[in-house]
Amino acid sequence: MRTIESIAELRERVREWRLARESIAFVPTMGNLHAGHASLIGAAHHHGRRVVASVFVNPLQFGPNEDYAAYPRTPDEDAALLAGQGVDVLFLPTVDEMYPKGTAGSTIIDVPELSGILCGAVRPGHFQGVATVVVKLLNLVQPDTAIFGEKDYQQLTIIRRSVEDLCLPVKIVGAPTVRADDGLALSSRNRYLSAEERAIAPTVYRTLDHARRRLEGGDTDVADIEREGMETLRAAGFRPDYFAVRLAGTLELPRGQDMDCVVLAAARLGRARLIDNLQCRATGVLPAPR
Ligand code: PAJ
Repeated sequence: MRTIESIAELRERVREWRLARESIAFVPTMGNLHAGHASLIGAAHHHGRRVVASVFVNPLQFGPNEDYAAYPRTPDEDAALLAGQGVDVLFLPTVDEMYPKGTAGSTIIDVPELSGILCGAVRPGHFQGVATVVVKLLNLVQPDTAIFGEKDYQQLTIIRRSVEDLCLPVKIVGAPTVRADDGLALSSRNRYLSAEERAIAPTVYRTLDHARRRLEGGDTDVADIEREGMETLRAAGFRPDYFAVRLAGTLELPRGQDMDCVVLAAARLGRARLIDNLQCRATGVLPAPR
């Protein structure tokens, strides 16, 4: 594995692969890698002859009071994991390399229909920061395929939409959420949990799973499913931001017969903010939202 910090060298390497007609699969990350990230690398090998991973803690997607400075940075462990996973190139740019003119005042990618709802409602600017850095990275790596986790479902939806709207020549692939044995979705931010909080954390998954079973069993009372989810999380000690049933793929409010849905939750527990979601097929007729 070669670690590359400069855009010029990355472009040179990509150019050689393209000349040799080798396909490229790309996995962008913010590092502090775990088995969830590793599963994306595994998927990337099915899609490309060459695999590029990036590790870049993107300042543009963190709000002023968020954990940019505290975000766990473990470059040596990350490089060892990626090398062990057969990655060809680790792209590890500095903030200056990615934002030579700074982050304020530069071009921004925004999907207004999707960036202000759910997580976007509590993290203003977050998804603009994500979409902007992902589009930049896609322009640099020029992969045939890029892999993203379904764990960050709204992020995946926004990336798919940006790529479609901007006609970027890349296939976006979603990979299933990797969980601990007790159901907790793996996340770099789980390390913010105390032992006591870690024991409570799987409640998010269990509450989503309960909602999923209600929908799959023909229950169409979406408002009550969402209310119950919020209540269960609060009773367990969380400060939930939302617990929502939406249409899969578009995140629109659910309505219609036998629809593919996604149940999404975000909740704070101590210092951590946990997000998770589960997809399901609602078997009843969901009423038009009031
Ligand atoms: P990061 O949180 O490091 O996640 C990188 C990729 O790993 C994302 O596609 C995310 O959905 C996926 N991922 C994280 N936990 C996962 C899990 N438990 N199972 C499966 N996939 C998982 O998401 C970001 O970084 C950034 O926003 C980024 C897209 C890199 C832009 O900066």
